[in-house]
Amino acid sequence: METGCENTEDIRTVVPQGGNTGLVGGSVPVFDEIVINMSRMNEIRSFDEVSGTLVVDAGCILEVVDGYLKEKNHIFPLDLGAKGSCHIGGNVATNAGGLRLLRYGSLHGNVLGIEAVLPDGTVVDDLSKLRKNNTGYDLKQLFIGAEGTIGIITGISVLCPQRSKATNVAFFGLESFEKVQLAFKEAKGQLSEILSAFELMDSQSQDLVHRVTKNKRPLEGEYPFYCLVETSGSNFDHDQEKLSNFLEHVMEKEIVLDGAVSENETQIKAFWSWREGIPECLGHWGGVYKYDLSIPLKELYLLVEETRAKMEKAGLIGDTNEHPVVGVVGYGHMGDSNLHLNVATRRYDKKVEKELEPFVYEWIAKRNGSISAEHGLGLAKKNYIGYSRSDTIIALMKQIKNLYDPNGIMNPYKWFFSEKRIVYAI
Ligand code: FAD
Ligand code: MLT
Ligand code: ZN
Repeated sequence: METGCENTEDIRTVVPQGGNTGLVGGSVPVFDEIVINMSRMNEIRSFDEVSGTLVVDAGCILEVVDGYLKEKNHIFPLDLGAKGSCHIGGNVATNAGGLRLLRYGSLHGNVLGIEAVLPDGTVVDDLSKLRKNNTGYDLKQLFIGAEGTIGIITGISVLCPQRSKATNVAFFGLESFEKVQLAFKEAKGQLSEILSAFELMDSQSQDLVHRVTKNKRPLEGEYPFYCLVETSGSNFDHDQEKLSNFLEHVMEKEIVLDGAVSENETQIKAFWSWREGIPECLGHWGGVYKYDLSIPLKELYLLVEETRAKMEKAGLIGDTNEHPVVGVVGYGHMGDSNLHLNVATRRYDKKVEKELEPFVYEWIAKRNGSISAEHGLGLAKKNYIGYSRSDTIIALMKQIKNLYDPNGIMNPYKWFFSEKRIVYAI
């Protein structure tokens, strides 16, 4: 492929790569970039059991680190479906949110220090283990969520909480999104400090999971909406009773139509599989148009309904091969107002694309939401940054990029092109 870069001196552009599980194409080269895969930097450097401070190489796999912490009665403050492959460095570079942000907060709060290599070779040695350090700008924050655009993260220190002794999970069926909101409000009130996840799944997402896995559903009946509520506390029986009382309460108030509380580890895993299994199952038919959005909670599901209505009106959704769209589904992290709107298709199709964009982005901009809540911009979403960020903010971001990476060698075709690279790349 002719890139236009052949005769320039600065062709040594690089793409940092972790577990390659990112969903916006940030970790894959576009032209002739060199991929720097971090897999071999995979040592756990230290762990302090008193403070809970962990220091790891960037290439450590999340599940491996969490397994190590389990032996020390601690937990990594992030969990997500890709834990078996994604790296801690990739998690930090994408500022991944995941399933328990509601409980443990974002990596911007939990990461204490960063070691990184800048494009000119400077090692940023800021592996602080301090919780408090108000001595000037907190520059490590720039690397969290930077998607490899200003440097390569090589080490991370992170504050890890004590692992809860008991985990319990409930699975609810509800009749409307209004009732889901009420259930969330009640959960915060009644489960308060032991609430660790509140996830949303609509009936269409669960139908598609069922069509792929054929697994027995958690509840007897079928409902328009489902929620997965997880508690993490210190006493299994006490927490289970609390969760059962909560279920009784929301059923009495007719907020929840039916529900089940897990009785053992196997059931907990089974309930979670109906949520964590959604992304993989959606890919079963061919393609998926994925949108990862922050929306004020009240209107969170309206977008799914309007998108589905658009697809129906355009005659694009149906059970036969003539229809490109298999289903328009909504699921996500209710506790963080983060909707995953996904359109599962039999093939990528221009007509589907035309219905979706810019409709989705304009809808989000009108509500001051975010067009990328937790997955980042990468390549897939970079052209839409203007729907969520003002010109002033984008200009400031460009200044930072140019300051750290004046030659534009770090992940050059992601986010926004550096002016220099536009010339060569297009
Ligand atoms: P990669 O995909 O390899 O890279 C991602 C980006 O980070 C790229 O831009 C890359 O250049 C950069 N990067 C990677 N490593 C470094 C480094 N050491 N230094 C600098 N830059 C680097 N995300 C969520 O937020 N929440 C979820 O719940 C969630 N669930 C997921 C479930 C599934 C099944 C899948 C497939 C993905 C999910 N994701 C989720 C997407 C998510 O961003 C990641 O899985 C994860 O954080 C990326 O880590 P990675 O190591 O695979 O990074
Ligand atoms: C999830 O919450 O399951 C992930 O962010 C992946 C996805 O959006 O599909
Ligand atoms: Zn998610």
